[in-house]
Amino acid sequence: MPPSPLRESDDLYLDLLKRVLTRTLFAAEPDADQDNLHRFVGQHIKHYQQGGAISMLPLARFDQLQAAIRAVVADDVPGDLIETGVWRGGATIFMRAALEVYGCRDRRVWVADSFEGLPEPDPEKYPREAESFRSAAMTKFYNHLAVGLEEVRANFAAFGMLDERVRFLKGWFKDTLPAAPIERLAIMRLDGDYYESTMDALTNLYDRLSVGGYVIVDDYGEDAWTYCRKAVDDFRAARGVVEPMVRVDKPCSYWRKER
Ligand SMILES: C[S@@+](CC[C@H](N)C(=O)[O-])C[C@H]1O[C@@H](n2cnc3c(N)ncnc32)[C@H](O)[C@@H]1O
Repeated sequence: MPPSPLRESDDLYLDLLKRVLTRTLFAAEPDADQDNLHRFVGQHIKHYQQGGAISMLPLARFDQLQAAIRAVVADDVPGDLIETGVWRGGATIFMRAALEVYGCRDRRVWVADSFEGLPEPDPEKYPREAESFRSAAMTKFYNHLAVGLEEVRANFAAFGMLDERVRFLKGWFKDTLPAAPIERLAIMRLDGDYYESTMDALTNLYDRLSVGGYVIVDDYGEDAWTYCRKAVDDFRAARGVVEPMVRVDKPCSYWRKER
């Protein structure tokens, strides 16, 4: 379906929505490109976790997500949108809202999460991730990023975005994604942080991604505490994916499937 002609009010609505979801109407967001990890984590906990944000994506990543949605709608790239790893649901609420704005009523948004937080990484295979999983920040402050399904559904409802075009996949990706009733995808946004969470999403979903679709990897540059980059590099090498990775900010990159 072609996009509705862009109206200024549509952009205004989506801009306001991004600011509300990220709690940046009255407060500045932490700088995701800064080198001081300790300071960044402190700011991050305060702003997103304790501040009540609905998404922990920086605005630059929302801008990129919006551009990707516009592109797949404008170019008629078939398929639904998915995020694997949703926390409080903000990025998927935005996906649903942007589809509405672009007059696109035939695509669904898939919301995939354990809804009980991160899986515990194997310390032998993934020592850096296991250390982060056990850290004070993760246990005392982030509660392993656990947010229940009912809370996420309530967030969708609060923004007027809970309907039959939003589908929830509750459970570990390795269990839910292989048999998920998704035929085609136009955007897969991976935000499960860890090696296996990233690899499970890629191996189970990439063949369902249309040519012209996007793979967005939220944690590609999070080398201090995840092996997300390695999962992506391993997958791309194994599958001969040569499309260039495009940087959004220090942690996040994406590629557009060309064949
Ligand atoms: C960083 S948060 C996602 C942030 C979110 N995209 C946003 O907009 O704020 C990571 C999420 O991934 C989920 N997760 C990570 N690995 C998972 C797995 N293997 N199976 C299911 N959920 C997983 C966690 O429960 C958590 O909600």
